Amino acid sequence: MMSNLKQNFAYARIFIPAIITITAFLLIVESFIFNFNSSQLVTAVILILLLDLAILYFLGQRRRSDLGIVKGVINQIRTNSFRSADEIKMGNDLNELEDEIKSMFMKTRSDIAHLKKLEQFRTEFLGNVSHELRTPIFAIQGYIETLLDGALNDETVNKIFLQKANNHTLNLNNLLNDLIDISMIESGQMQMSFRYFNIHEFLEQIINEIKPYAEKKNIELNFISSNHSLQLFGDKQRLKQVITNLTMNAIKYTNTGSVEVGVIDEGNLGKIFVRDTGIGISEKDISRIFERFYRVDKDRSREIGGTGLGLAIVKHIVEAHGSKIKVTSEFGKGSEFSFFLKK
Ligand SMILES: Nc1ncnc2c1ncn2[C@@H]1O[C@H](COP(=O)(O)OP(=O)(O)O)[C@@H](O)[C@H]1O
Ligand SMILES: [Mg+2]
Repeated sequence: MMSNLKQNFAYARIFIPAIITITAFLLIVESFIFNFNSSQLVTAVILILLLDLAILYFLGQRRRSDLGIVKGVINQIRTNSFRSADEIKMGNDLNELEDEIKSMFMKTRSDIAHLKKLEQFRTEFLGNVSHELRTPIFAIQGYIETLLDGALNDETVNKIFLQKANNHTLNLNNLLNDLIDISMIESGQMQMSFRYFNIHEFLEQIINEIKPYAEKKNIELNFISSNHSLQLFGDKQRLKQVITNLTMNAIKYTNTGSVEVGVIDEGNLGKIFVRDTGIGISEKDISRIFERFYRVDKDRSREIGGTGLGLAIVKHIVEAHGSKIKVTSEFGKGSEFSFFLKK
C-alpha cells in the first residue's frame, strides 16, 4: 500500500513543475480577487496544496498503469508470447501506440522470416556446391588411382582415362568460374560498363567462335540479322557471356536440327533471340531453369560439362540491363530464349 502510494507519486514527478506553476498562478489571482488576509492565505495555500497532491496522485497512478501496459507488451514480445499481432491489446486509450507496436511486431516477424529464408538458401547452396565439387573430384581420383594401380601400362585404356580425368578438370574449372560469377553477383561486385556497340558484328563474332561445337554435333548454326549497323546499349563482355551460354545450351540440348541466333530491330529496342529445334523444356521446368543448380536432367548436363549455374548468371546479367529474359518452349520441339536491349 505504502509502496503503491510512493510509486504513484514517483510516476507523477514529471508533472510537478506544471502543477507548481499553476498553483502559484492561482494563488496570485485569488489573492488579488479576494484580497486575502494572512490566515485566509495560509488556508488557501494548504487547500490548494492538498488538491495538488490529489491531482499528482491520480496522474501518477494513470501514468504508471499506462506504462505498465506498455512494459508488459514489450516484455511479452521479448519472450515471444504472442503468436500473432492480433493478440496485442493495450486498451482504448493507447490504441495509437497499440497500432505502432503491432506494425513493429509484424515488421520484426517478417524480417526474421526473411533472414531465416536467406540462411536456408545459403545452407542449401553450400550443400549443392559441395556436391557439385565432389562429383568431378571423385571421378578424377578414380581415374588416377586406376592408372596408378596398373592401368598406366595398359595402352588400350591409359590415354582414355587421362582424357576423361582431364574432362573432369575442365568441368571443375567451369564450375569455379561460374561460382566466382555468382558470388560477385550476390555481393554486388559485378561491375558493368555500358556502351553502344554494333550488335551485328558482335553476334557474328560469337557465332564464329561457337561454330565448331555445332559442327561437331552436326547442328546447323544460323545467324539472323537484317540491320548491319544497328547499335545497341549494353555491357559487351557480360552480354558475350549471355549469348555464349544461351547458344551453347541450345546446341547442347538439341539432338538434330538447327540453332538460330539473331537480332530484330523493334522500335526503340533490339530483340535478341536464341532458338533451337531441340528437346524443349516442359511447363513445370520452365519456371525453375533459372534457379541455381537446377537442371532438368542432371546427369546429361554434367556429362556435357554443364554446371547448372549458366541460366542463373544469364538472368542476372539481362536484368542488370533493365530487361527480362523470356522463354517459350514446346516439349520435344524446341525452345526460344529472348531479351531486349535499348537502342
Ligand atoms: N535450349 C534449351 N533446351 C532445353 N533445355 C534447356 C535449354 N537451355 C537450358 N535448358 C535446361 O535448363 C537447365 C539449366 O541450364 P543452365 O543453367 O545453363 O545449366 P547447364 O549447366 O545444365 O546448361 C539445363 O540443365 C537444361 O535442363
Ligand atoms: Mg548452360
